[in-house]
Order: sequence, then structure tokens, then C-alpha cells
Amino acid sequence: MHRRLIVPSALAASLLLAIPASAADFKPGAPGIGDSYYPNSGNGGYDVSHYDLRLKYQPATDLLEGTATIVATTTQNLSRFNLDLGLKAGEVRVNGRVAKFRAGGDHELEVTPAVPLEKNKSVTVVVRYAGKPSELKIGGWTAWHRTPDGGVAAQEPDSAVWWFPSNDHPLDKATFDVSVLVPDGTQAISNGVLQSTSSRLGWTRYNWRSNKPQATYLATLAVGKFDITTDKTAAGLPVLNAYSKDLGDNAGSARASIERTVEVAEWLESVFGPYPFNSLGGYVPNVTSGYALETQTRPFYSPRQFANGANVSVVVHELAHQWYGDSVSVADWKDIWVNEGFARYSQWLWSEKEGEGTAQEIADYVYQTRAADDPFWTVKPGDPGAEDQFHIAVYDRGALALQALRNEIGDEDFFAILKGWPQEHAYGNASVADFVGYAERVSGKPLTALFDTWLYQPVKPSAPTATEAGI
Ligand code: ARG
Ligand code: ZN
Repeated sequence: MHRRLIVPSALAASLLLAIPASAADFKPGAPGIGDSYYPNSGNGGYDVSHYDLRLKYQPATDLLEGTATIVATTTQNLSRFNLDLGLKAGEVRVNGRVAKFRAGGDHELEVTPAVPLEKNKSVTVVVRYAGKPSELKIGGWTAWHRTPDGGVAAQEPDSAVWWFPSNDHPLDKATFDVSVLVPDGTQAISNGVLQSTSSRLGWTRYNWRSNKPQATYLATLAVGKFDITTDKTAAGLPVLNAYSKDLGDNAGSARASIERTVEVAEWLESVFGPYPFNSLGGYVPNVTSGYALETQTRPFYSPRQFANGANVSVVVHELAHQWYGDSVSVADWKDIWVNEGFARYSQWLWSEKEGEGTAQEIADYVYQTRAADDPFWTVKPGDPGAEDQFHIAVYDRGALALQALRNEIGDEDFFAILKGWPQEHAYGNASVADFVGYAERVSGKPLTALFDTWLYQPVKPSAPTATEAGI
């Protein structure tokens, strides 16, 4: 008996490794990743590194059919795990083997693999699915915009569940290949570089690649009839813009804005440092809703953004998000200020550079036009609540906080921080608290009180006036 314990250590190690964990060690992955505003967003137990989406979309019927191949690594022993998906799964395979699945509530897809999954292992999940995204409404709203000639997925904080299964939270970023088959004469637009197209039997396939970590809500799909312009930056990055053929009177102003993408991005590089992605552009589908969104490498712009003529400011906003929001993403949706406060402040800096009013002048104007009893001051940009996540106060009061910071620490440290932060957290996630700590480190000044006043107190602070340091 004793002698059996005396085995060479390598053999002992391999015996240990071969011991299967008992069934009790395998637990279901959590149905949410732990977000404080959206408890069911994302999932626990695995980390996705790549999505390969092979899709077919029929504009006439709004039918989307697809196969998603998800490459992930387990982060715990899993008896089962969830994906987030609003369309209908038809078959799921895990590591090649057919898996059981069940559509739970709140667009959760529960997957039970034939064999439980060990921690720290690569896992490949294939989901075949289909549905009409326009039929999916969550809490009465939709991220899918049906257009006369196609459809578009673009919304925040959620859009993925309308078109692909995922771990739907910015904490789990991945690279994307999106391949879309559409009828000849129709285009499919997505993120990153258009690698190739091919046509046969009346259908054209568009193959897109986004090769840097990308949050699921920043993945986009637009199918429709577009005019496409292409170019290269001085550094050789491909530029691709797409304009619906159906923009009416807004066609000229949309182009006059978005064709300035490279100029704006180059200016932003002078403020924020190197552009973080492999391509640039923007697209304007013929949607009726009015917002814009910083979909990675290729922002989405509503035609309504250009109804009063060119609007370069919205281009500045969405491109600023490529650094602040897309490369450096929120750790939790309550951290939305690290996106919107900075994207808004970038618009003020652009105005300053264009001679259309300095950031201080705009800050003074915003401050003065909001009376002390305006509900604007009750929204806390540092933790606005899910209901007010995109309240104007997150943007405008959020930018006022940055003007207050600039005045407190002076331009040299302020601009060092604006450039340093995207490097510090490139392709990662960060919180409001991380930013406060970073600003304190770079400036060497205690800033907790300043940020508490501007981001967390539900009252109008005293004016963010220019001080010695800020001049
Ligand atoms: N991040 C987007 C922007 O650039 C905001 C999207 C707003 N979405 C919404 N449902 N209000 O400002
Ligand atoms: Zn924004």
C-alpha cells in the first residue's frame, strides 16, 4: 500500500490532474455578470474572446437567420451557463456536441452542455438561431430599427439581444467577424474593416472584421441601400462611410459632417493620443429615431442629427467615444459619466478650437441657464440610476465637472489626464472611482471633494469659475 504512494512526481501530477472533479463542484453560471443597474445583463462563468456571426437577412420580411460561433474560456466549473438572446435558438452545440437549451425569462438562453465544463478551458459554442428582430420588444422598446429597405441594430445599453447571442455586458469584450448575406443591390454595414464581398444566386455576402476588443452593445448591423464612400487615412487606415440612399434633404448635410471624420479624429488624437482601432467611418441609415451612437469604428447617426445643416459636433461626440467609452469602457453601467461627460466635453473643446466659444464660456452658459430649482441638478452624473442613465445632466453637468477639474488643476495636468487615461485603461474597463484616483495621482491634488460636489450631490454647486490655476 505504502509503496504505491511513492511515484515519480510527474506521474503523481498527471494522476492528480486526471481526477475528475465531483459533480457537486460544477455549478450553473450566474444569469447576470453583476451590473448594479441591469442585474441580468451579461452572464457569469465564462469570458468570450471572439464572436463569429454568419447571418442572412431578408429586408422584405425582416427575417434574420444566423449561426453564431462563440469562442470563450470558462472561469469556473460549469454545469450550465447562460447567453443573452432575444431571437429563437434552434440548435446549440458546445465543443461540437449537441447541448440542451431553454429560453428563460428576460432574454436569457440557458445552455446545458452534454459534458460539464471545467474551469479555465477553452469552449466553443455554436448557436443556430432565427427570428424577426422587429417583433422583439423589451420593456416596450426596441434596439432594432426597421427601415423601408432593411433594418438596423443600434442602441445603448442593449442591442445585441436583437441580433446575436452573447455575454451582453461591456465587461466582456471580444473581437468580431460579422458575415452577412443580403439580396443583391442591398448592403450590409458593420464594424471594422470590410474584408471582402462575394455574390452568387442573387445574394451578396459582406464580411466585416473588428479586430480589437469590442463591447457587445458597440457591435452594429445595418442592412439597406447605401451610398458608400471609401478612403485611407495618412496612416493607412481604411475609412468607410455609408449613407442611406433615402436621406432626402438631409443627404448633403450628413455628408458635410461625416466626411470630416478623419479631420476630427486627427484632432482628437492630438488631445487623447493615438486612435485605438483599425478603421474609421460613420453611417446614416434611414431611421426615424433621433439619436447617434458610438458603435465601434463606425458610429451610427440618425438623419435627424443633420436636419439643420452640417453637425460636426455630433461627429466629435461619437468619435470622442472611441477613446472614452469604446476603448476604455464602463466597468458597470452606473459609470456612464466616464463615457458621456468626456464625449460632451470634447464638443466644448472642439468649439474652443473652432473659435465658437471656449469650454469655460459654454460651461458658464450651461450653469447660468439651469436655475437652482431645475430638476437637472437632482441627477447625479456619477450614479444617475438606470432611469436617468442618458439624462442631459449626465452629459452637461458631467462636462461641467470636467471644467471644474480643469480650473482646479490647470491646463497642463488636465490635458495630461485626458491623454493619459485612454492609455492607462486601453481596451479595458474603468469606473468613476478609477478616474478620480487617476486624476489625483497625475495632479497630486486631493480631488474627492470636487468630484463629490459635481458628480454626487443632488444640488446646484457654486459656479465652476476660472481660477488662477485654470488660466
Ligand atoms: N451614447 C449615445 C450618445 O452618443 C447615447 C445613446 C442614447 N440612447 C438612448 N436611448 N437615449 O450620446
Ligand atoms: Zn455619448
